[in-house]
Amino acid sequence: MTRVFLPLDTFAVACGADEIAEELTREAGARGLDVEIVRTGSRGMAWLEPLLEVETGEGRIGYGPVEPGEIAALLDAGVLDGAAHERGIGRVEEHPFLQGQTRLTFARCGVIDPLSLDSYRAHGGLAGLERAAQMEPLAVVAEITDSGLRGRGGAGFPTGIKWKTVAEASADRKYIVANADEGDSGTFADRMIMEGDPFALIEGMAIAGLATGATKGFVYLRSEYPVAIRVLTEAVERARAGGVLGPSVLGSPHAFDIEVRVGAGAYVCGEETSLLESLEGRRGQVRAKPPLPAIKGLFGRPTVINNVVTLASVPAVMADVGRYKSLGFGRSRGTMPLQIAGNVRYGGLYEAPFGITLGQIVDRIGGGTASGRPVKAVQVGGPLGAYFPRELFDTPFDYESFAGRDGLIGHAGIVVFDDTADMARQARFAFEFCAVESCGKCTPCRVGAVRGREAMDKLIAGERPAANLELVEDLCNTMKFGSLCALGGFTPYPVMSAITHFPEDFGRPPMSEAAE
Ligand SMILES: Cc1cc2nc3c(=O)[nH]c(=O)nc-3n(C[C@H](O)[C@H](O)[C@H](O)COP(=O)(O)O)c2cc1C
Ligand code: SF4
Repeated sequence: MTRVFLPLDTFAVACGADEIAEELTREAGARGLDVEIVRTGSRGMAWLEPLLEVETGEGRIGYGPVEPGEIAALLDAGVLDGAAHERGIGRVEEHPFLQGQTRLTFARCGVIDPLSLDSYRAHGGLAGLERAAQMEPLAVVAEITDSGLRGRGGAGFPTGIKWKTVAEASADRKYIVANADEGDSGTFADRMIMEGDPFALIEGMAIAGLATGATKGFVYLRSEYPVAIRVLTEAVERARAGGVLGPSVLGSPHAFDIEVRVGAGAYVCGEETSLLESLEGRRGQVRAKPPLPAIKGLFGRPTVINNVVTLASVPAVMADVGRYKSLGFGRSRGTMPLQIAGNVRYGGLYEAPFGITLGQIVDRIGGGTASGRPVKAVQVGGPLGAYFPRELFDTPFDYESFAGRDGLIGHAGIVVFDDTADMARQARFAFEFCAVESCGKCTPCRVGAVRGREAMDKLIAGERPAANLELVEDLCNTMKFGSLCALGGFTPYPVMSAITHFPEDFGRPPMSEAAE
């Protein structure tokens, strides 16, 4: 019997993986071949999807991108024996894109059957939870604090400190909420892990439950991720059947269970208090803080809200705190799943320790633009992140270095633009995005975004450009300091970085001339 691996991941499915699986079943049946198709997550090499892998004596040999309609020819060429072919990439594990990575959180993604608890365990899964179940809850919290793990959802808040607040709060119920709203442009790490290794998220949430005394977890998952909803829901049921979730987690005295809830799709519902409103059945509108969700969160109870990648990293942290802590740069410890997207040759997910430079990510790993034209700008950290020009490509990828250059790493979405991009239009887009997605609770954001878009429209039309640019800068100042949450408060980052680094697109002299 030959085992063949084909992703069920959205990347691959969007490019025909389901059709290819059907074709393979049909062709193998017609030829009397004994083939088992294992649907996996993605390895993260998006340009090679659908990537078909064949198990051979030499390891897993990859072929990609395979297109629907090609299976018969591939079988004729002998790919089930690992034969050479123009689509062949050789041994998958040895591909340079994978070789350069340090995969901790995504170690199993693309490798195992995401719904097999046995495979998960055989590849190191549940070691962290088994350890945590034998420890005092506060000792688990202390290890997470010691590891230096920070929230991967955007703000980079130390995870251990958040957990400690919840652990020390007394209440009849406490909750763990996984933020799977993943609305940032160019980001897909949450989706990939939920589709490719959902037990990592489940295990991370269970560890958080044990550490803080929470007995119930919710995953707030966006409706735009149907594959992730299906895989995660099934994984939760299997974890329950396997004793990982339920009244006695892995046979311990701790109870913990998880429910998957699907959000209707609003960017602001990724903001933690808005998410709580939505989870409680109301319109997703931001709550004023304090109280912090860690004190008074879901249904008024102490609640840990963490990003999916934060929680899915916890098992790897708990399995080897020393190793995790030893990786990274400055106060940014461990690894980050970089999501390389936009106009780029080799887009996908690349997990690496913090500290790699932006230039290395874009030029070396991403291979420059897909269009072959020069890179003009890179937006890092989603729609609220700053645009970085090539002059800033020496910036190390970590929270502090990006903040020091008026940027943010956010959820590590990296979107590349070539020299045809008009940064004035990108600045207009930032205001438009904010105007569309604003929850409307505070005036600087609700009104500022609309006025900003209008001023940018006038500027682009050549109407009193200097006065309108001044108005835009003034609005940015008001939004930055007067908004209730980061949607209004951070929209000035893409706008101001575009003006600062690409003044010529706004009718101002280029930076080189301005400096003279
Ligand atoms: C407008 C807005 C959208 C956000 N969207 C997300 C999101 O989609 N996913 C996420 O994890 N965090 C998002 N955040 C950050 C969350 O509010 C919160 O900081 C995060 O879930 C905390 O988890 P962490 O500490 O693990 O990062 C968003 C914040 C804002 C202001
Ligand atoms: S900044 Fe915008 S999204 Fe945030 S609370 Fe104010 S109106 Fe709502």
